[in-house]
Amino acid sequence: MKVCRRETFNSAHRLFREDWSDEKNLEVFGKCSYPNFHGHNYILEVWVEGEIDPETGFVIDLKELKHIILGSVIERFDHRNLNLDCPEFKGINPTTENIARVIWNILREQLDHKFGIEVQLSETEKNKVFFNGN
Ligand code: NI
Repeated sequence: MKVCRRETFNSAHRLFREDWSDEKNLEVFGKCSYPNFHGHNYILEVWVEGEIDPETGFVIDLKELKHIILGSVIERFDHRNLNLDCPEFKGINPTTENIARVIWNILREQLDHKFGIEVQLSETEKNKVFFNGN
């Protein structure tokens, strides 16, 4: 059984490689490589897989999951510049893929290992990545 909590956050980023020219960065990363950063409205879905607890009828208390996500992920990244403010992305391009992996690692430390975790992250309405640890 899987249950999901959806949250949103807004962050600025820039995708680029220092060892590439501006032209090559623009070619590969498009507008996301513009030097002065820009923002996205990220949509985060955290899916938790486990057994239904016979006592509560829950896989996980979604209120508890909400508090974990807000405290450990949203507080950390909302209204931040991922490149400049967040050491998690030092030397790592803050692509949707890498952000999803960072969030998964944070949540893996917070949630009981009896649960499977999948992070789904959208940077735009048209793109979405999934990460479950593999
Ligand atoms: Ni971007």
